[in-house]
Amino acid sequence: MLAPSLLSADFGNLEREFQWLNNSAAQWLHIDVMDGVFVPNISFGFPVLKHVARLSRKPLDVHLMIVEPQKFIPEVKALGAYIMNVHYEACTHLHRVIAQIHDAGMKAGVTLNPATPVSVLQDIVQDVDLVLLMSVNPGFGGQKFITHTYNKVRQLRQLIDSTGSHALIEVDGGVDLTNYQELRRLGADVLVAGNAVFGADDPAAVCEKMSV
Ligand code: DX5
Ligand code: ZN
Repeated sequence: MLAPSLLSADFGNLEREFQWLNNSAAQWLHIDVMDGVFVPNISFGFPVLKHVARLSRKPLDVHLMIVEPQKFIPEVKALGAYIMNVHYEACTHLHRVIAQIHDAGMKAGVTLNPATPVSVLQDIVQDVDLVLLMSVNPGFGGQKFITHTYNKVRQLRQLIDSTGSHALIEVDGGVDLTNYQELRRLGADVLVAGNAVFGADDPAAVCEKMSV
């Protein structure tokens, strides 16, 4: 599956972007919320997303790069999000946050920064619907893919399969036409792509290729 990242879209011409996106082969739409505290950048907040979300016919995969993400569960729910991803590094009581997301009627995902090992998921992987592996340090689109991520996908695939977890594996950051096949082969289920899609001459064609 492919989740194009809205962060790389032309926000001055969103209507045109959604025209091709909604008709594309991409399965989800990835939405990056940043607070300038958890990550050194600010993207867009809920007053903006409220309007943007209405344009999408794809399920929304919301990635919160913010401290205390549990405070915003109602806002994410109000967007009509399919899945809410919180960072492991931002949640002191991750088990509680996952339960709160489920109680709100959404799928729950946990995200790991590049320096956070897969092994920290041992006691939570059975409770989550998705694990999002960051393959760049979060905060910006268009960064270079960190190749150590291949090992992490391998380890995570093993952890999920050995625990009977149903979690999907998603990879985010620097994913493009040069690495998507290897990520798939190693067991990634969902790939996020910002620059590789929105920076392409024919974004719909790239979606078609990468969404298989
Ligand atoms: C980075 C974001 C990503 C970003 C990916 O902090 O989480 O979702 O939009 O963009 P690319 O694919 O350009 O690295
Ligand atoms: Zn993201």
